Amino acid sequence: MRDRQNTGMPISVERLDAREWPDHLMTALFAEGFPEFITADREAKRYIDRVRAWFAPLNIVLVEDGHTPVATGWGVPLRWSGRVDDLPTGYTDALRLAIALHEVDQEPDTLVICGAVVHPDKKGTGVAGQLMVELCRLAEDAGWPRVIAPVRPTLKHRYPLTPIDDYVAWTRDDGTPFDPWLRLHLRIGGRVLATAPTSQTMTGTIAQWETWTQMRFPASGEYVIPAGLSTLLIDRAADSGTYIEPNVWVRHRKPRRRNPEPCRVSDPRSDSECQQART
Ligand SMILES: CC(C)(COP(=O)(O)OP(=O)(O)OC[C@H]1O[C@@H](n2cnc3c(N)ncnc32)[C@H](O)[C@@H]1OP(=O)(O)O)[C@@H](O)C(=O)NCCC(=O)NCCS
Repeated sequence: MRDRQNTGMPISVERLDAREWPDHLMTALFAEGFPEFITADREAKRYIDRVRAWFAPLNIVLVEDGHTPVATGWGVPLRWSGRVDDLPTGYTDALRLAIALHEVDQEPDTLVICGAVVHPDKKGTGVAGQLMVELCRLAEDAGWPRVIAPVRPTLKHRYPLTPIDDYVAWTRDDGTPFDPWLRLHLRIGGRVLATAPTSQTMTGTIAQWETWTQMRFPASGEYVIPAGLSTLLIDRAADSGTYIEPNVWVRHRKPRRRNPEPCRVSDPRSDSECQQART
C-alpha cells in the first residue's frame, strides 16, 4: 500500500482484493459506472473469471481517509510489439490475448488498462488522473515498458451516429480532444494510436435489450439506445440484438512528470508524429 495526496484528503492505493469491501461502498463507487448492456459481451464473459483470478494484482482501488473507495481501475498483461498494426482489436481481444499468454506461461511486456471508475461524488476532483498514473505505475513496477488502453470515450454516447474515426479527430478550440476522457488520457501523457471500431460486441435477445435500454423494438432495424456509443441492430426474425462498441487505443508513457502540459490530438494513423510529440 502506498500513500498519495490528492485534494487535501489522504489517498492510499491498494489492491482491490486487499480487504473485503462492504456492498454499500462498492455500490456507491459504481453507481454511475456503465450501462447494463456492458455485461452482454459473451466472449468477454468467458474470460472475466480467469482475468479476475489471475491478474488480481493489476486491479487497484484508491481509498480516501483509510476507508472510502473513491476510484478503481484494472488491467491485463500481454505481449505487444509496439506496432499499431499489431494492436489487439479492442478490449475483448486484449482479455483473450492476456489469458492465452498466461496459459503458455510467457512473460508479458505490456499493461492494457481495461477499466476505470471514479466515485460519482469524486468526479471532477482529479482522482481520475491520479488513478491513471497509479495504473501506469503498475507496469513500471512490473518492468513492462508499455501501457496501452482501449478507451471508452465518455461523451461518444451523445453522438452514436458519428463514426469513431471522425469522433476521435474532433478537437476543442485549444486543440485538445473534444472528448473529456480522451482529453484526460492525453493530458497525463497518453497519445492516440488508433481507433478500435469493434472493441466489444454485445448480443442479447430482444427482451433482454428491451430491459437493458427501457425501450421497445417493434421492427427490425437500427436504433439509437441510451448510453450506446454506436447503434443497436435488431433482427426480430432471429430474436436478437447486436451492438458493436467502438473504443480508441491510447498509449501511455511512464508516469515521470506529475503535471505534463496538455497534449494535442495526433493523427491516429501516424504514430511517428506521436513519438515526436512525446519527447
Ligand atoms: C471516466 C471517469 C473515470 C472520469 O473521471 P472524472 O473524475 O470525471 O475525470 P475528470 O474530472 O478528470 O474529467 C476529465 C474531463 O472531463 C470533464 N467532464 C467530466 N464529466 C463530464 C461530463 N459529464 N460532461 C462533459 N465533460 C465532463 C471534466 O471537466 C474534465 O474536463 P477538462 O479536461 O476540461 O478538465 C468517470 O467519469 C467515470 O467513472 N465514468 C464512468 C465509468 C467510465 O465511463 N469509465 C471510463 C471507461 S472505462
